[in-house]
Amino acid sequence: MRHKKIVFIPAIIIAGLFLVSFGLNNMNDIPILWEISKLKSAHLPLVNKSIEVHPIAEDIYKKIPERTAYKTYPFYMPGREPKGYYEWLLKQEPELVFDVAKLKTEEDWIKAGELIYEMPQNFDRFIDSAVNMEELQGMAAFMTSIHMPVSKDGTIPFFQIVVRKKGKIEVGTFACGNCHNKVMPDGSVVKGAQGNYPFDKIFGGGLLANIQESKMADSAASVMLSQSFRGLFGAPWIEHESQEFVKKPEYKRAIAVLLATVPGVMHRHSSTLGAPTAIPDLFNLKERKYLDRTGMLLHRDIGDLMRYAVLNQEMDFTNSYGGFKPDTRPDSVLLKRYTRFSDAQAYALSKYIYSLRPLPNPDKAPAELIAKGKAIFEQDVCIDCHTPPLYTNNKLTPVLGFVPSKEDKTRFDISDICVETDPTLALYSRRGTGYYKVPSLIGVWNRQALMHSGYVTSLEEMFNPARQKDDFIPSGFNPNAGQPFAVKGHSFGLDLNVEDKKALLAFLRSL
Ligand code: HEC
Ligand code: HEC
Repeated sequence: MRHKKIVFIPAIIIAGLFLVSFGLNNMNDIPILWEISKLKSAHLPLVNKSIEVHPIAEDIYKKIPERTAYKTYPFYMPGREPKGYYEWLLKQEPELVFDVAKLKTEEDWIKAGELIYEMPQNFDRFIDSAVNMEELQGMAAFMTSIHMPVSKDGTIPFFQIVVRKKGKIEVGTFACGNCHNKVMPDGSVVKGAQGNYPFDKIFGGGLLANIQESKMADSAASVMLSQSFRGLFGAPWIEHESQEFVKKPEYKRAIAVLLATVPGVMHRHSSTLGAPTAIPDLFNLKERKYLDRTGMLLHRDIGDLMRYAVLNQEMDFTNSYGGFKPDTRPDSVLLKRYTRFSDAQAYALSKYIYSLRPLPNPDKAPAELIAKGKAIFEQDVCIDCHTPPLYTNNKLTPVLGFVPSKEDKTRFDISDICVETDPTLALYSRRGTGYYKVPSLIGVWNRQALMHSGYVTSLEEMFNPARQKDDFIPSGFNPNAGQPFAVKGHSFGLDLNVEDKKALLAFLRSL
């Protein structure tokens, strides 16, 4: 049975040229987003300091069309939509939902920001003019086969339905919620949590299906992957096996590495094959000084969060990294292929992100056990780095093999202690700064992928000393895809006795 796989394959290339016209009132407080000096000073230096990161020039940026915020409708697991849903959608007129002139109060901005959080970046064909039952059934079977999380009302909250033209139903992808929404075990949806959309399983599975269906030779498949990986993960100035693999991927192994991720972990662009990123939650974000595991972008104010959102929703493909451009197409093509947030959209979005608060754990351990665990946390070294109230000291820790420069030490908050986790992401990728930041532990009870690449999926596994041994098979992302892999580093708390460890974990789960 065929279904349109294209819906689920992340495409860097996006279609559409849409012009937006927003009123200019109420705009006075909005920071200027694409300010070259701020974009540059927000970026931590890369490990190789001779590789400077340059964003595209302001005049080109301004010519890139702003996104249009269309009304979105829920996307259902095919078969669980209300009766007549698609027929009804086919009759809907396109509707615009973001009107800056109407935003008066802080609450208005936050509400509008939620619409932007759910505003897709890409649109994929779904239903034109008539419902094709066979296609829908094929899609449902595919979703079931990959264990797509489905909420209790039958929606798949990672996608949206969009009507940009009457009579044509599209599926919108790559909204913030695609990766930052989580379907909980009870079927409720939490926005801003560590999301559980099985991103790389779909990416890797889609690539594999394309290779098999087109009966591509192994060598041709590897060339095809290398072309796609160049933009996603390329950092040609780095000499390391992970970058060699990006250049010349043996396709079966490359796909096995993608498929070895678990929900909550993905090979975000600019990471590298074998060193993906765990998706962070976005709670209490206003208090975080560094964004991303490697602390790649500074977060000094709301303007920096706006810049973060625009860059990470594909504008950083247009960066130059010491002359290397992930997207090699000429500016004239970029102008037609990319879209971007307007400053007002990014401002509203950032206000919404700032409003997100963690969900308290509904199933806390008894108070006595939590109190005992708290005392252990405070006596042990944990508190030096995971300092309350945020449970992070907001510092960067240098990774194995990296020595912070004097300049770094004066510009950034750097801890003296290296936690000795795998340094690949921090040293050998475009995200590589030489550091891992100390993550906040608030809401850690609701993360299913821990440590920078999500190697472990529970606190029990993280604090199990066996994980550091060479015969260990981690339950989270495993770079050795099924073969043993020692999850090294972060040795704190590993030698506690059984009772103390139980108490410590109960405390962590209460945060
Ligand atoms: C395709 C999946 C995906 C999409 C879409 C996505 N993110 Fe993320 N986001 C990630 C991953 C993965 C990371 C971790 C990257 C890292 O650590 O290097 C991340 C990190 C972040 C961070 C850094 C938080 C921290 O504490 O380090 C912020 C803020 C963020 N995302 C906001 C957004 C916003 C806002 C949007 C929508 C404009 C968005 N993301 C869209 C996957 C995604
Ligand atoms: C020297 C600073 C430091 C100390 C001390 C420390 N940690 Fe950490 N912790 C980190 C860093 C850095 C990471 C991220 C490491 C990585 O991703 O490679 C981390 C990650 C974690 C995580 C995973 C969070 C996530 O979302 O990935 C937990 C849980 C944690 N630490 C708990 C503890 C506990 C409990 C203690 C004490 C027994 C402790 N830490 C001591 C720096 C520290």
